[in-house]
Amino acid sequence: MKIVVLGAGYVGLTTGACLAELGHHLTCCDIDHARVAALRQAEIPIYEPGLAELVSAQMTAGRLEFSANAEDAVRSADAVFLAVGTPSDQGGGIDLSFVMAAAAGIAPHLRKQAVLIVKSTVVAGTAQQIKALVDKTRGNSDIPVGSNPEFLREGSAIGDFMHADRIVIGADDPRTEAVLREIYKPLVRTGIPLVSTRTVNAELIKYAANALLALKIGFINDVADLCEAVGGDVTAVADGIGRDSRIGPGFLAAGPGFGGSCFPKDTRAFASTGRQHGAPQPLIEALIDGNDRRKRSLAQRIIDATPDGGRVAILGTSFKANTDDVREAASLTIVPALLAAGLDVHAHDPQPGAAKRLLDGISWHETPIGAVRSADVTVILTEWDEYRSLEPNRLAAAMRGRTVLDFRNVLAGEKVASAGLHYHSLGRPS
Ligand code: UGA
Repeated sequence: MKIVVLGAGYVGLTTGACLAELGHHLTCCDIDHARVAALRQAEIPIYEPGLAELVSAQMTAGRLEFSANAEDAVRSADAVFLAVGTPSDQGGGIDLSFVMAAAAGIAPHLRKQAVLIVKSTVVAGTAQQIKALVDKTRGNSDIPVGSNPEFLREGSAIGDFMHADRIVIGADDPRTEAVLREIYKPLVRTGIPLVSTRTVNAELIKYAANALLALKIGFINDVADLCEAVGGDVTAVADGIGRDSRIGPGFLAAGPGFGGSCFPKDTRAFASTGRQHGAPQPLIEALIDGNDRRKRSLAQRIIDATPDGGRVAILGTSFKANTDDVREAASLTIVPALLAAGLDVHAHDPQPGAAKRLLDGISWHETPIGAVRSADVTVILTEWDEYRSLEPNRLAAAMRGRTVLDFRNVLAGEKVASAGLHYHSLGRPS
């Protein structure tokens, strides 16, 4: 099939490269000419394991190309995926202007056999809204609009695409459903279930899935607080509950609160949709509140553990491991709070590019040991493997103080303690 993806960001690029790998012919379009020029040289603008190799292999195979001229690219397309950004708006909802502008821009140039598919994360009813806009722009209702949400995690996006738990397709007409089934046939043949439903349900599935996963995290973080208060161990509790197949073991790792480009934005949008339609989502409202509060209270915990004007080493500024993304990362709340408290902040991250642009007033180091040298307190904020393998004796020798706050529970407490350090993790005995 000839497929065009509009938006060569993280979702568009991964989706485009993976669809090419399935055997389709892909053109990924972006309005950013510099980005398109770089992609044509197989230069990938984001850090995503395996993506650069996949893009370059698909380009060599002649199945993947890039263009800044979407109007031209869509003329011969069988399907066009919208994968442009949907940032939060002022009221916690999402700003659909990029999606709408992209749809309106290409609408007059689509062949009448084409289908338009919304890949961007959008609130319930958006596919139908886009359909109305496309109909109006064309003066015709020949182009159907479908929904095909993504469930890709940053850092493991290619694996998540190729070995998805399920593929969700939303279609309000048989043509869209048939096209989407055809596109995903190679994956369905490998045994991946395909859930076919109406567009509004597909849109809701995306939000409800992210909201429920975020609830699991918020819940285990509350359980971690309780464990600390009563002397329990959240790792043992998570293991025990996660073995119940109705609960499942995933997303039960206590941490400094969820971040990233999806959970915070999507939970806000879910709650906002509920308010707007008179179907409030009190669980999600409380979750959002608790998650924000958690980041602030962990900042206070670091401040309380550090002598006045002392030195703090932050290990990990990305919102999670294996990504350079810092959007809504705990570091963005915690580091400014430490600086405001007059502390001297030193940081390390294996992929610090974006964080360096966003976090002012701190000293960056090339190695974790460089960052912890002379620190009064060391804080682990991201679960990079590099931190899991930190040698406690080296840590103890480099630090000036003795306190290690492991907010990702990646170190073995006894080993750290036997190196003479005071070790505190989340929801586990000190
Ligand atoms: C998330 C979903 O997992 C994807 O399925 C979805 O497609 C994506 O959002 C999206 O909507 O596009 P992502 O934001 O890349 O993916 O990252 P996750 O691995 O889900 O982690 C989100 C946050 O939760 C991170 O801050 C992470 O550190 C935190 N987390 C995750 C925990 O604190 N504990 C856990 O057990 C799991």
